[in-house]
Amino acid sequence: MNSINQLLKPVTTEINEKGNLSIGGCDLTELADTYGTPLYVIDETTLRGVCRDYKKAFEKYPHVNMMYASKALCTSAISRILDDEGFGFDTVSSGEIYTVYKAGVDMSKVLFNGNNKSFDELELALEVGVGRISADNFLELALLDEIAKSKNKIADILLRITPGIECHTHEYIQTGHLDSKFGFDLTQIDEAVELILSQYKNLRLHGLHAHIGSQIFETKVYHDEIEILVRELSRLDEKYSLKLDEINIGGGLGVKYTDCDCPPSTYEIADVIIKSLEENVKKYNIDMPSLFIEPGRSVISTSGVTLYTIGSSKQVPKGKKYVAIDGGMADNIRPAMYQAEYCAEVANKKDEVEKEKVTIAGRFCESGDILIKDIELPKLVEGDILCVYNTGAYTYSMASNYNRVPKPAMVLVNNSKSDIIIKRETLDDLISNDVIPQNLK
Ligand code: LLP
Repeated sequence: MNSINQLLKPVTTEINEKGNLSIGGCDLTELADTYGTPLYVIDETTLRGVCRDYKKAFEKYPHVNMMYASKALCTSAISRILDDEGFGFDTVSSGEIYTVYKAGVDMSKVLFNGNNKSFDELELALEVGVGRISADNFLELALLDEIAKSKNKIADILLRITPGIECHTHEYIQTGHLDSKFGFDLTQIDEAVELILSQYKNLRLHGLHAHIGSQIFETKVYHDEIEILVRELSRLDEKYSLKLDEINIGGGLGVKYTDCDCPPSTYEIADVIIKSLEENVKKYNIDMPSLFIEPGRSVISTSGVTLYTIGSSKQVPKGKKYVAIDGGMADNIRPAMYQAEYCAEVANKKDEVEKEKVTIAGRFCESGDILIKDIELPKLVEGDILCVYNTGAYTYSMASNYNRVPKPAMVLVNNSKSDIIIKRETLDDLISNDVIPQNLK
């Protein structure tokens, strides 16, 4: 069965009676007029559809906890939608914990991850009562035990391990290979467990956690990862009589950024995961563990598009034609950082046939600020609205104020209605934390 993460565009994308692109029943040129550009647009129907794909795909497995990896896009409104769809949250900072907490999420459904959590962050996590903390290293075990003791609490933890699995994705977004900054090496697990059992009385260990990478198209890596996690649970049971009953396999399922991308569906992934669990639980003779999965990109990416207004253009003599937009690497760093590719269409020129090949250049002061290389689009002129697809994940969440440019707004669209969910930054917002020392006044 197909699922939404295999689509390039939000499910509600249409051409309306004016010949303009519309999403969630909202004309994109009107959204650009009303809210200005660059503008992030999130389609609620697509987002909820993905959540339902995930739930349906895993319905056969009774002990599954979907934890949305909020690093992909963390806002108060998005947190409310995911909470409403029954997802928990994988968080990696006090900022993400605070956002979901303030959005009214049940904190027992929140997990806290990260390779260098600070004292303050661990303290906050315990205070608001996050359900699980995935302990990443020896320092963290000691710190967490100390903080939990001082608060007379027990911290419920998993151990993050590096399973030694290489997946075929960009090297910056591989995490499960052996030489990784994340988690305990397989050879360090026993030492960590022994410390927990003998010294760290305020830690309660529930299971193991791994994450192998992101934008993954292969299914076999999940099979292999589960085998390692189950094998380790069984080994720890044998060696320490320790009955751990949770495994967290991280996130990573890919999405379709261009026609060349063919990610597996959530149904295929779920099948591989469930089969591997059933197989390995038998092979290693343990009870079926509770499963945690932490998808981020595949949950939010397809529901998002970014709108830009076309500005200047430059035809290099005997070379490329550059067309500039009013955004770029500060609102979407992915092309500059990972050579990521995107598809785009012109929102106001759907039926124009005369096309030309152009390179979409960002407005930031870097030659590397190119959003899309060599794309065929209808002839662009100043004021046209460009719609870049599949930008829900890792765009706003990685945005910066480079060149002192305010961050764009974000709107949620549904049933022909649009609502602001992140306000556009103002020039005053930009200087709001600046301080001029007395002697410079
Ligand atoms: N769990 C853990 C422990 C993670 O580190 C990550 C992502 C996820 C879950 C969610 O992975 P996803 O389902 O989104 O692939 N900025 C990069 C992606 C970095 C992913 C980091 N960790 C990008 O734009 O491609």
